[in-house]
Amino acid sequence: AAAAPNLALIKYWGKRDSRLVLPLNNSISVTLDDQLMRTVTMATASPEFAEDFVELNGKPVEVTDRMRAVLQSLRQRCQRGQDLASWKVRVATRNSFPTAAGLASSSSGLCAFAVAVARLYGIVGDGGSDSCDADTLRWLSTVARLGSGSACRSLFAGFAEWSAGQRPDGVDSTASQLASAGHWDLRVLVCVVGAGAKSAPSTQAMARTVATSSLLPARLSCLPDRLAAVREAVAGRDFASLAEMSMRDSNCLHAVCADTYPPVHYLTDASRAIIDFVHRLNEASGRVVLGYTADAGPNVCLLAQPADVHLAAGCLQRAFDIGQVVGDLGEAADNSKVPSDWAGDGSGGEGATARHRIESLLICRLGRGALDIPQAEAAAWFDSD
Ligand code: DP6
Repeated sequence: AAAAPNLALIKYWGKRDSRLVLPLNNSISVTLDDQLMRTVTMATASPEFAEDFVELNGKPVEVTDRMRAVLQSLRQRCQRGQDLASWKVRVATRNSFPTAAGLASSSSGLCAFAVAVARLYGIVGDGGSDSCDADTLRWLSTVARLGSGSACRSLFAGFAEWSAGQRPDGVDSTASQLASAGHWDLRVLVCVVGAGAKSAPSTQAMARTVATSSLLPARLSCLPDRLAAVREAVAGRDFASLAEMSMRDSNCLHAVCADTYPPVHYLTDASRAIIDFVHRLNEASGRVVLGYTADAGPNVCLLAQPADVHLAAGCLQRAFDIGQVVGDLGEAADNSKVPSDWAGDGSGGEGATARHRIESLLICRLGRGALDIPQAEAAAWFDSD
């Protein structure tokens, strides 16, 4: 099985039940193209195995309680006999993310984990998400959720919404597709900035936010309107609105992190410089060229329309010290609306300070859901690594 990371435009932050990974709010994400970032997972079972065993990039890792919860749910639905379900499994995972990217993602990892074991047990076939009935798909999303909340959205191609649900057992806390990748050709420019101080793991950080932040209730109360605006922006392909909602929600997430006690800091000076750059570029252009969003780490992801990717990358290159650009830059389009001497942060002018570094700029399209990546293709990728 294979899965790609998803990027939340409206963030999940805070749980109402930690064991079942039930969130306080709905979230909306885009699944990234798996050409640049992909997690590939193979699962086998045998009566010879003494223990469940998981390895990541060739090294054994702890089988966490979350992974055990995923395995337990899948074992109960095994379609290939109780013998198979009772055997211990071996799960081997590889992330094929560009080196030093710091992008290891629980969303793709735990989604690929759930799908690999679901295929081993014959719960889903190899015919893509269309061949999986809607109930099974919804259920599989709840199983991936037990591994890591954000993983439940990576099952789906394009745009997905994870519904918080209301039931204590979590059966209604599942993701579904809002729109296909083909509905709207958006691009995501992932700015990989040098890792700052080690980030607080999101699971612990969000628990601390729930316990201590007095701003979190304010965030939760404005989310229904923001979610509705994003659904509408996706349906109507309204880039300016989608970008603005994403920027506001990212800023809101990092504000509640700052309001957490003790505070949680994910953004570095380089992240903030990218955020300021986006606002200056949009202002200089007289329109919304880019949006941004940042998760529980210092990398900043930019949202762009295809015709603006070339322009945005060019402006970024003038304003930042960029190590490498990976992916399709697209054609140069009419960029006459941005002043030709525009450097974004004044770094080209007098009194310039050192430019911030972006290690890699990864240009991604929106991509396929985990069930749409054929087994043979995933296996070939695994072997070629
Ligand atoms: C900031 O899904 O990693 O990326 O459910 O505890 O495993 P757990 O957390 P995780 O949190 C992701 C937080 C986020 C926002 C998002 O993806 O919606």
